[in-house]
Amino acid sequence: MTRIAHEKLTALIVRKLVLAGLSAEHAGMVAASLVHADARGVHSHGALRVEYYAERISKGGTNPAPRFVVERRAPAAAVFDGDNGAGHVAAFEAMEVAIEIAREQGVAAVGVRRIGHSGALSFFVEQAARQGLVALSMCQSDPMAVPYGGAEPYYGTNPIAFAAPGEGDDRMMLDMATTVQAWGKVLNARIRGEAIPPDWAVDASGAPTTDADAVRALLPIAGPKGYGLMMMVDVLAGMLLGLPFGKHVSSMYHDLSAGRELGQLHLVIDPAAFTDARAFRCRVSQAMRELSASIPAAGVERVLYPGEDCVLRERESKRLGVEVDDAVLAYLESEVIHRNAYAGKDPFAR
Ligand code: NAI
Repeated sequence: MTRIAHEKLTALIVRKLVLAGLSAEHAGMVAASLVHADARGVHSHGALRVEYYAERISKGGTNPAPRFVVERRAPAAAVFDGDNGAGHVAAFEAMEVAIEIAREQGVAAVGVRRIGHSGALSFFVEQAARQGLVALSMCQSDPMAVPYGGAEPYYGTNPIAFAAPGEGDDRMMLDMATTVQAWGKVLNARIRGEAIPPDWAVDASGAPTTDADAVRALLPIAGPKGYGLMMMVDVLAGMLLGLPFGKHVSSMYHDLSAGRELGQLHLVIDPAAFTDARAFRCRVSQAMRELSASIPAAGVERVLYPGEDCVLRERESKRLGVEVDDAVLAYLESEVIHRNAYAGKDPFAR
């Protein structure tokens, strides 16, 4: 890993995405999301993804000039059509719409349909929390997780993110996939020849496995509870928006020349519609302080409030530069746009 300045990493990502065919404006917005993820230590959704995005843009699977259409279907509900542009850009613009509606109506539900991969969802809920709003966002992803008790993938890693603003820059956040671990972590174990814990994934027969090479699907978090959450995300971010759902959701790698048609849902609440907004923010900050001061379990240095691990890494990145994998940095600094590494790839193949 190498640490580099935020601005330098941003410029490298923008350059590569523009070379692949994205406009400078959209490339800048995608880069902001990726650098946000890397700065928070969420490398699975940072600069590591640029080469995949570059291949997809080059092959036509990401619309470089999408026509976004917003339809206000009810006072607090809107549908945002992303025209299969970069998911980060569409989800950001759709969150701006949700923020505006929530300010006006107290609450907002904005469905984002027909988009590409939108990266780390913390980016969007933070966007609303910075403006004093509570936000929830969730999205579909390609089918890689078994249903509880099943042997073949049905749902994606369908992530959920939440943010609540406290005083000043305080905020509590949750941003998680609904699988125990991201696929990238199984891949890392495979590359290193290491075993994985038995609760991460299953083999072709649906049996839990510690052999990273034998993995054919990921397990939902907390058994039937994570399975239920995946279902919830698929209903809210897919079925509700008339999109392919469950195992019909497009694969990340199958056809890089076609749009992904993914769905995402943003829910935004203006605390002022329910309570005194200042008092609400004070309560959030109070809970953060109380959690930080609560007695740690044996062997734990300090209890962190939800999301504090990322905040600590973000502060370190601001001070020392953002950590990037050396191979990713070498690619970003090279003149290569992409190496045809992703099209047609079976994510579970060895
Ligand atoms: P994770 O397991 O690293 O973290 C989950 C949550 O736990 C985070 O909110 C984190 O801040 C919190 N946390 C971790 N340790 C903590 C501690 N000691 N105290 C308090 N809170 C703590 O996250 P995961 O599940 O690996 O997801 C990574 C990213 O992948 C997310 O940004 C998610 O949005 C993204 N993702 C995106 C997908 C897409 O298709 N766009 C699909 C799946 C995931």
